[in-house]
Amino acid sequence: MSLPSSNTVWHRASVTRDRRHQLNQHKSVILWFTGLSGAGKSTLAHAVEEKLHLSGCRTFVLDGDNVRHGLCGDLGFSDQDRRENIRRIAEVAKLMLEAGVITLTAFISPFNAERQQARELMPTNDFIEIYCQCDIAVCEQRDVKGLYKKARSGEIAQFTGISSPYEPPVNPELIIDTDLFSLDECVEQVLALLKQRAVVAEQ
Ligand SMILES: Nc1ncnc2c1ncn2[C@@H]1O[C@H](COP(=O)(O)OP(=O)(O)OP(=O)(O)O)[C@@H](O)[C@H]1O
Ligand SMILES: [Mg+2]
Repeated sequence: MSLPSSNTVWHRASVTRDRRHQLNQHKSVILWFTGLSGAGKSTLAHAVEEKLHLSGCRTFVLDGDNVRHGLCGDLGFSDQDRRENIRRIAEVAKLMLEAGVITLTAFISPFNAERQQARELMPTNDFIEIYCQCDIAVCEQRDVKGLYKKARSGEIAQFTGISSPYEPPVNPELIIDTDLFSLDECVEQVLALLKQRAVVAEQ
């Protein structure tokens, strides 16, 4: 997926990812949260980050709206721009993975193909896809940002779940039903997976 750049030669760092892992006392991975708007990606990603940070882990959340303010500020919401949005985020996440950071991404990322591309960019097992599963009626009822109301009235076009498709993950590492479990329970499900995979140590 990398774009061709001529006359560039990769400089190999002496401080490797393994050495960073040793220094940090945890591994780096990408926790890729996907789901409808209002499904709880941001809430969950930040709550997981809070717990990890308190236990001494190096973490960072790449969050949809924030990235669209800067790195992807030139992109809209057409299918093509959504794809480019995800491609850039995946490349940034890959750099953060190399930097030894537990990276949490909170993007709707509605298409299987782009999530698959992001997965393929990373070393095997470093990409953990977490599907925040939530009935659209519940998302619409939550309507955290008031966007569903605007989408229903036609004020916003190409809104995921209403006028733009969302393709649920085919084989995610974790499915979290955010409309069935409390936030704390959802956080515990993520942390349990990280311990099971020895990303972080059992406390
Ligand atoms: N178990 C849960 N996990 C996460 N969020 C929950 C849960 N239960 C209720 N909520 C609520 O659902 C809302 C989720 O909103 P949030 O902004 O996190 O969604 P999002 O998936 O990031 O949406 P967007 O794609 O628009 O950024 C919040 O108001 C949160 O408090
Ligand atoms: Mg969000």
